Amino acid sequence: MKILVTGGAGYVGSHCVRALVAAGNDVCVLDNLSAGHAKAVDPKARLVVGDLVDRVLLDQLFSAVRFEAVLHFAAFIEVGQSVIDPLAFYDNNVGNSVRLLQTMQKHAVKRFVFSSTCATYGIPPKMPITEDFAQIPASPYARAKLAVEWALADSATAWGLGFTALRYFNAAGAAPDGTIGEDHDPETHLIPNVLKVALGQRECVKIFGTDYPTRDGTCVRDYVHVDDLAVAHLRAIETVSPGAARYYNAGTGRGATVREVVDVARRVTGHAIPIVEVERRAGDVPELYADSTKIRAELGWTPRYDKLDDIVGSAWNWHKNHPNGFDDRPRKA
Ligand code: UFG
Repeated sequence: MKILVTGGAGYVGSHCVRALVAAGNDVCVLDNLSAGHAKAVDPKARLVVGDLVDRVLLDQLFSAVRFEAVLHFAAFIEVGQSVIDPLAFYDNNVGNSVRLLQTMQKHAVKRFVFSSTCATYGIPPKMPITEDFAQIPASPYARAKLAVEWALADSATAWGLGFTALRYFNAAGAAPDGTIGEDHDPETHLIPNVLKVALGQRECVKIFGTDYPTRDGTCVRDYVHVDDLAVAHLRAIETVSPGAARYYNAGTGRGATVREVVDVARRVTGHAIPIVEVERRAGDVPELYADSTKIRAELGWTPRYDKLDDIVGSAWNWHKNHPNGFDDRPRKA
């Protein structure tokens, strides 16, 4: 298939591009490299450095290549930043998605896979989360993602778009060969921050909140390996059909606390990884883990990485071989 991947130089996007290429697809990546890395893009894919804000570029791309499907990863991802500057998120995450969909409509491209998030559920009343839970997002980031889900549903009805919205839980880990992995600047995610302590780049891990109503007082998340997410995208794009709207939770169904993640990282790295307990981080919810029955049953998806040790181990393999990520320059902590 000829596939356009927006944000294909980013963390989840680059792992998906690699899987798409390995499966024999002809992949074009569109990325403005504001957060992505050219070096993360599989050399067998074509990289177009450009912005989704550029309607002319989009039109030229779709005129030059008859794309059969689009995977849309490009987006701002920092929940805290979305509270400070919500309009940037509505502009970048909603506006750009709408422009992309308008271009697809114009060129009659009707297969789409969208990077949505479990954050659209807000603070769910119970666990695990199934796809029919009410979506009451608690941040501008999550509201913008939900707004795109609505635009997709309306497009399915109005012009026959077929789409799958994958509601990711916590993407983690790295390619097992250690050549691509997570590289955000600044880094806010738990696992890379824990591993930066083992690398000696940070003194200790801050644990944000130890008084949550969970088994050890710290937040529970469902860490899903980025290559398993990539397989979910492959299955999604293979099965999407015009006019059909699908929604899946992309998580393992297993939750881990922050303390458990730190313990796993201690085992994997052999480093003591000191912690310091600090206040809760604004916007965090106590527990989020998936009921992934639907995606397993309908897409035949089974996460290969069912042990947190293996997920953290693959991340460690990446970080220790690339302490400065894709760059040679030292990073800010
Ligand atoms: N945490 C710490 N210390 C850190 C970093 C994180 O204690 O240095 C804690 C957080 O408070 C949270 C947990 O570790 O309880 C996981 O935090 P992450 O920042 O790794 O991930 P989030 O769950 O906050 O957010 C991620 C993505 C979002 C997505 C969300 C869905 O960043 O884009 O998962 O759950 F929406």
